[in-house]
Amino acid sequence: MKVILLGTAAGGGCPQWNCACPLCTAGLEPRTQDCVAVSADGAGWYLLNCSPDIRSQLLGTPALRPGPGPREIPLRGVLLTDAELDHALGLVLLREAGGLPVRAPEAVSRALLPVREIIDGYGGWDWLPVSDLPGLRVTCLPVSDKRPKYARASDQGGPWVVAYRIEDVSTGGVLVYAPCLKSWPAGFDSFVEGADVVLLDGTFYAPDEMAGVGGPDQLAMGHLPITASLARIAERPGPRWAFTHLNNTNPVLDPASAEHAAVLAAGALLPPDGTEFSL
Ligand code: MLT
Ligand code: MN
Ligand code: ZN
Repeated sequence: MKVILLGTAAGGGCPQWNCACPLCTAGLEPRTQDCVAVSADGAGWYLLNCSPDIRSQLLGTPALRPGPGPREIPLRGVLLTDAELDHALGLVLLREAGGLPVRAPEAVSRALLPVREIIDGYGGWDWLPVSDLPGLRVTCLPVSDKRPKYARASDQGGPWVVAYRIEDVSTGGVLVYAPCLKSWPAGFDSFVEGADVVLLDGTFYAPDEMAGVGGPDQLAMGHLPITASLARIAERPGPRWAFTHLNNTNPVLDPASAEHAAVLAAGALLPPDGTEFSL
């Protein structure tokens, strides 16, 4: 299985358009919004989430560019972990891809109905439950009850956020993708067991990080801080642990920071956009 990290930042990316915090103005290597591409055969690709940066992510990734026919594309579908706009708004930008199947938990597909009505005006897409993909065994685990802010009052239930475990049936390689973790949830340890790479929620480094920009606390936003997951990782050697969905307030964005060094010292990775894994 080939895995490409198309984007590794949280909503808004880094730098973020409305933010003049020290990290957004430091001239760091930019990061686009969280999105991953996976493929069992290197020819047909599936997106895990579909970020608002999808246009530049596709055009910047040779394996995902169109061809050889004038309107042939290598995308075969999309899997959504949640209905947050930073994970789903890219679907609107791919509206000409008639028939592209989008798979998500039912509550997520239902919350996205307003977006689906727009997209379906351009070509009937298939909105399907989560299932295996060609050459890839897919399982999901509910990891958070956080509803999107725009969800209608009638949208209740859940699960609102899931993590995916994707196993290549021929190589046995396993990727776990968990960009939004409210806690270290029940069942997560067995979900990641035997994984080669685990992409974890790296939105915030510390529990008081949003105070600096006047925001709510991290757990209210549905994101377990890296300081809490590093302690878990230390007790769980085996997979390569990598943080993604990094918020623009997160000091690990700066490679010269003590926090960046602490993540690497704990044996975890902070992969930049464009990182590839072969599992
Ligand atoms: C999140 O990751 O918590 C969401 O993207 C935040 C939001 O867009 O409201
Ligand atoms: Mn997000
Ligand atoms: Zn900022």
